[in-house]
Amino acid sequence: MTPEPAKPAVAISIAREQQLIKLLMSFLVTGILFMVFPGTFLGVWNLFVISDAHSASSVSAAWMQAHGHAQLFGWIGSFILGIGFYSIPNLRRVSAWSFWDGWLVWALWTSGVALRWLTNVYQWQWTTLLPLSAVLELLAVMLFLVRSIQGHRMQGKIKGSVEPWAALVIGGTIGFIATMSVNVYESFVLAFLAGDSPAFPADFNSRFLILSVWSFPVPIAWGFTARWMPVFLGLRPSKKSLILLAFVINSIGIIAALANLLMASSLIILLGAILIVIAIRILEQAEKPAKIQGVHRSFPAFMRIAYAWFLIAAAIGVWAAIEPDSLGIGGAGRHALTVGYLMTMVFAVAPRMLPGFLGKKKLFSERLMLFALLLTNIGCAVRVTSEIIAYQHYAEWAWVLLPISATLELTGVVVFTINMVGTFLEKPMLAPAK
Ligand code: HEM
Repeated sequence: MTPEPAKPAVAISIAREQQLIKLLMSFLVTGILFMVFPGTFLGVWNLFVISDAHSASSVSAAWMQAHGHAQLFGWIGSFILGIGFYSIPNLRRVSAWSFWDGWLVWALWTSGVALRWLTNVYQWQWTTLLPLSAVLELLAVMLFLVRSIQGHRMQGKIKGSVEPWAALVIGGTIGFIATMSVNVYESFVLAFLAGDSPAFPADFNSRFLILSVWSFPVPIAWGFTARWMPVFLGLRPSKKSLILLAFVINSIGIIAALANLLMASSLIILLGAILIVIAIRILEQAEKPAKIQGVHRSFPAFMRIAYAWFLIAAAIGVWAAIEPDSLGIGGAGRHALTVGYLMTMVFAVAPRMLPGFLGKKKLFSERLMLFALLLTNIGCAVRVTSEIIAYQHYAEWAWVLLPISATLELTGVVVFTINMVGTFLEKPMLAPAK
């Protein structure tokens, strides 16, 4: 038998790239599925019930948490893990041919997050399934961290030092691990010691949410902005030491929240937020023209709007700490951060970056990109204002606006999904490897 001729190096690297794209695509599709159904549909349903009953406590805590977990971890977490794997330096060189560890992370993560949602919603066998889901999630994040450290260590040897944007991403990954560890701890406490339902108790949950949001997606979003926006928006060079200072201050704010010092925490977090905006100079006038080829020309404006939401969210956080019993102010601040900041960032950045990452010729539609951003931002503005007015009982008419805001946001989410699915189906730039 004659041996098969060795594959030329180019064919091998194309095949590896295609394996990696398949993995990234699986994380993205999983994230989008979590965003649309367990995340947004359940959030919209909850808001309709709240608006109908004129009471924020008319929906069970377990259902609210099911929605929040699906959005933060099912959607944002899956996107970050997928893009994280794709971007690990040298993965293409150090990883085994099939990227088996990437697929294992995907399987652990997806089953953990899905199990958590089902457990919160149906409460079936929750004393077993809640801790199990938390352990699966933690294992996934730890395996991802081990792989990232391997890849980044090789890169560090070559480059010698870690850039501030990379420090933010590493810091966010540590925040991710911390969040998932606390999640495991509380799930075991509820299941075996103290709980009568899978819902985290309100006091614990409000601190857990500060950890979940401010320690994980927020620093990663800062890192992403510091890495890419000087290039895409033509910003002036970032102030590197101020970036690190903002991160340290933000971490102190989170620790203060965990210590139950909510007023101090909110002020420190606001300070960190102001410093990062100054450091990355996103609200200053750009020094070069923005690179908007392939995306809607509103891209730079929406990136700045995201940071305006970010500052608004941090300021509302202080107001919520002044009135700690108000559900509306805290909820409004949280959605200014999650929908206004995180969702706007993802809806603006994904169309800019993903077609290239996925090896596609172009974004499916620039116009759909604009509609998704407009609808979610108008929905978010209506939501944040009407939630405060309605939940605080300042005026009755605001209850009517809540379902309108949810419908606008839901439509924006559906439009974004159509645009992403259309992009996934676009022609690839590389011919499939034989
Ligand atoms: C897109 C439309 C959305 C709707 C209609 C919606 C609706 C809701 C509702 C009704 C609540 C209950 C508390 C409150 O009234 O404030 C809630 C809580 C929450 N939402 Fe959303 N949401 C949406 C998007 C998002 C997104 C994109 C994220 C994260 C990326 C998110 C994360 C959360 C979190 C973390 C909570 C707190 C859950 C808890 O109590 O543990 N939401 N949302």
